[in-house]
Amino acid sequence: MSTKEKILVLDFGSQTTQLIARRVREEKVYCEIHPFNVSIDQIKAMAPTGIILSGGPASVYDPEAPSISPEVFELGLPMLGICYGMQLTCHLLGGLVERCAHREYGPAKLTIDEVNDIFYGLAPPPVTHQVWMSHGDRIEKLPSGFKAIAHSETCPVAAMRHESLPIYGVQFHPEVAHTEIGADIISNFLFRICGCSPSWDMRSFVEITTRQIKEKVGDGRVVCALSGGVDSTVTALLINRAIGRNLICVFVNNGLLRKNEAETVLAFLEQLDLNVQYVDASRRFLERLKGVDDPEKKRKIIGEEFIHIFEEEAKRAGKVHFLAQGTLYPDVIESVSFKGPSAVIKSHHNVGGLPEVMKLELIEPLRELFKDEVRKVARELGMPDELINRHPFPGPGLAIRVLGAVTEERLDILREADAIVLEEMKASGWYQKVWQAFAVLLPIHTVGVMGDERTYDNVVAIRCVESLDAMTADWARLPYDLMARLSNRIINEVRGVNRVCYDISPKPPATIEWE
Ligand code: XMP
Repeated sequence: MSTKEKILVLDFGSQTTQLIARRVREEKVYCEIHPFNVSIDQIKAMAPTGIILSGGPASVYDPEAPSISPEVFELGLPMLGICYGMQLTCHLLGGLVERCAHREYGPAKLTIDEVNDIFYGLAPPPVTHQVWMSHGDRIEKLPSGFKAIAHSETCPVAAMRHESLPIYGVQFHPEVAHTEIGADIISNFLFRICGCSPSWDMRSFVEITTRQIKEKVGDGRVVCALSGGVDSTVTALLINRAIGRNLICVFVNNGLLRKNEAETVLAFLEQLDLNVQYVDASRRFLERLKGVDDPEKKRKIIGEEFIHIFEEEAKRAGKVHFLAQGTLYPDVIESVSFKGPSAVIKSHHNVGGLPEVMKLELIEPLRELFKDEVRKVARELGMPDELINRHPFPGPGLAIRVLGAVTEERLDILREADAIVLEEMKASGWYQKVWQAFAVLLPIHTVGVMGDERTYDNVVAIRCVESLDAMTADWARLPYDLMARLSNRIINEVRGVNRVCYDISPKPPATIEWE
């Protein structure tokens, strides 16, 4: 394992900064993301092999525009600026960036003028390559010593390089899947320009993360919020590797779990030999949720209650300094806003609800990973497949799937319907094929007829989506006979339901959870 080779990604606030890191990891090279304003001394101390400057929503000529010390370009390190990162390179080194007459978002055709270096091995003109653009500014005049190496119809400098230094820039986004040659460009930068070797993998991730946790925690004690899902379990296993019994895992039954969830999870956790405290706080949560139907309020209440419980458990356990959570990157990007660019979609995921005054320091070892990467780490840690392949389940549980007020009775209806969905998905082999499948209980009643009786009962919606990382998703095209079985069983077996709908909304514009 070599972490001597390290790519530093400086983040200027793009929604796709983590995708850059992910692409680097896919090439088996270690990489760290840091905010754009790390000092030059910190950069030197990190001794990176190369630096990637991310995109971002600002314009370089804004007075508040995020910037870096021009000294970075004097370190002699290979550098790749992406979109804003390229414009900043140009601006800092004496070129001219101006607003485009027409902003350019979406696919564009790239012609490579110099098939070499970052474009090594790619097809020369007349072939054009589909790339993904997202910019309102463009380079009007290159700094001295630079030349354009690719263009598009609307962008004369779609890529640039320095004539003698290893400094590159691309106006488009090589990190997104729509840029067909993106992986080639990143791999060329890493291997041809930076001279890295593909030696990093999830085993290295486990080793590095374990070491970092050990360093951060020392002899301290950590309390970990364990839900039995793959994210929090992997978090716990990593910390367990680092500090053993100084980790106290708390599994809270908030009364918002699925049918038989508490028993199943406890049985799993027992197998993994973690130090687990089970807290049945169902009453407490349901009491506080009484009469609340606003989803954001539900999330806030549940978040707060969780934290109170963790604080209490931490106190009971003696001296504890840290709280560990299985927060993943999509949770972070949709919940917190970095200097404004990424809009807050929901105050949700594990990040929301944390009171500012929380007295425990956070540890989130998976904060930079996507779900499929976490599953790879889980495999590395020897977790059983059944646990690894469980669908994601939101922290606020069924509270955000019972729309409107949450009552025991409505939770029970949803539990029964949800259990049928999971059972049928598993029996038909579809559970493994989709990202998530679950039932939602709507806050309305509709008329039906059962036997010869009129009914006025609940509606259950089935949400079943395919996705790679939960950032985007599409509804799964389930076979009709499976849908028919789901509907028949729910209507016949779950008292109080007389209608079943199937959700055919993609994300965006819908989200996966209904809330
Ligand atoms: P949305 O509804 O935002 O959900 O499209 C994206 C993914 O995140 C899951 N989700 C959560 N996971 N804590 C979690 O750990 C939460 O508060 C939370 N809310 C949503 C959701 O199930 C989907 O997979």
